[in-house]
Amino acid sequence: MSEHTASIGLETKSFDADVLQPSVGNQGVDIRKLRPETGYVTFDPGFANTAMARSSITYIDGAAGQLLYRGYDIEAVAAGASFLEVAYLLLYGKLPNITELASWEADVSSHTMLNEEMRSFFDAFPRRAHPMAVLASATYAISTFYDVYRRPTRIQEIDAGARTLIAKMPTIAAWAYKKSIGEPYMYPNNEYSYVENFLHMMFSRPTEITPIDPAIVKALNVLLILHADHEMNCSTATVRSVGSSRANMFASVAAGMGALWGPLHGGANSAVIEMLQAIHDDPDATIESTLERAKDKDDDFKLMGFGHRVYTNYDPRAKAISTFAQEMLDRMDASDPLLDIARELEAAALEDDYFVERKLFPNVDFYSGIIFRALGFPERMFTVLFSIGRLPGWIAHWMEMNRDPDTRIMRPRQIYVGECARPYVPLEDR
Ligand code: CMC
Repeated sequence: MSEHTASIGLETKSFDADVLQPSVGNQGVDIRKLRPETGYVTFDPGFANTAMARSSITYIDGAAGQLLYRGYDIEAVAAGASFLEVAYLLLYGKLPNITELASWEADVSSHTMLNEEMRSFFDAFPRRAHPMAVLASATYAISTFYDVYRRPTRIQEIDAGARTLIAKMPTIAAWAYKKSIGEPYMYPNNEYSYVENFLHMMFSRPTEITPIDPAIVKALNVLLILHADHEMNCSTATVRSVGSSRANMFASVAAGMGALWGPLHGGANSAVIEMLQAIHDDPDATIESTLERAKDKDDDFKLMGFGHRVYTNYDPRAKAISTFAQEMLDRMDASDPLLDIARELEAAALEDDYFVERKLFPNVDFYSGIIFRALGFPERMFTVLFSIGRLPGWIAHWMEMNRDPDTRIMRPRQIYVGECARPYVPLEDR
């Protein structure tokens, strides 16, 4: 029995539960014995009130708009670290020292190449294939080269899986893009850093090497860091859920990509651009009409890039990206009419009672598409970029879940509201 308990009064009995203490944040009522002892289950669609695990990876204070990776504030991390450094931090729980970082970078860098047989896999997709579909399929496909059909149990195997996925994901992403535009695949060049290599494979051609702009490298590095983890979001919960059946890391991560692709999650970054573009192009889609549609309960349209399950304040990632988008455009001496529309839309929403009362603020996806565009990425690649960023987070959660003695196969209960037992009716009698 912990020193804190909660008592739940049920019709004929009461249930005493331990209260689990966090290092910071919500306390948790431990209801593991609720159903065995009382026959009751809890009802929590979307698991909005349910902690799926004890985790020490990422902490969000939604009211304060604070986001910590392993205790380090996201803004400080984004300003000072490289993406691979953050990946190490998330996976292993500590900032690497100079030697550890150099060895991790060298390890990742020497595994960026795909098995040559993967080329035929990319070739087989139709050119119009969405890069997210190719990315998730290729994540499964590379697992076929490693015999990882079972969950690895040795630490070395787990580390190798993590390194393989992180090393190869930019190559897979860039090849998915090259496929979609009908250009030859570019091989990785390990002289480059992680982010440089990705840009090289995306934008160079065998006939013409595109110089890599350090400012774009810096911007993409920050963007990937800002996407690197976000505790029990939908895709991470999916990775944990699939992994809880002892499925291997590759299968779990590929499933997470499916969850990320949805427009209410990582797919929101391209949905935001579609929404802003419609306001720009379609005289009937004004700022006012867009907000009215978002407020209309008979219309399933939502203000894309707005709202969050955890933040009831400005998403700190959105704040950083919004400033960054302007800086990038200024530096390139460019402008994007969609940025102006986004700012107007944000200002109008933040003054509208509907959004104020519900504490709906811009989230990470509201401005990220604008900056991805400014960096030269097409809209269909936005969620792929999110995936590359989120990958270390997914893997860190997969690893943590596998080590956690509390982990059980994810298998929720239901409240059955269908027909009770009734006799089968033969076909001729129906
Ligand atoms: N536009 C209009 N109304 C909204 C929006 C929105 N974007 N977001 C929430 N609401 C309303 C919602 O209809 C509900 O109203 P009511 O209380 O009258 O029923 C209230 O605000 C509470 O919202 P909810 O739907 O209960 O919130 P949720 O935690 O279930 O959903 C969300 C969170 C992010 C899915 C939702 O805010 C949303 O659909 N946003 C738009 C899509 C988006 O930008 N997704 C990216 C999320 S952040 C990054 C990521 O996860 O990838």
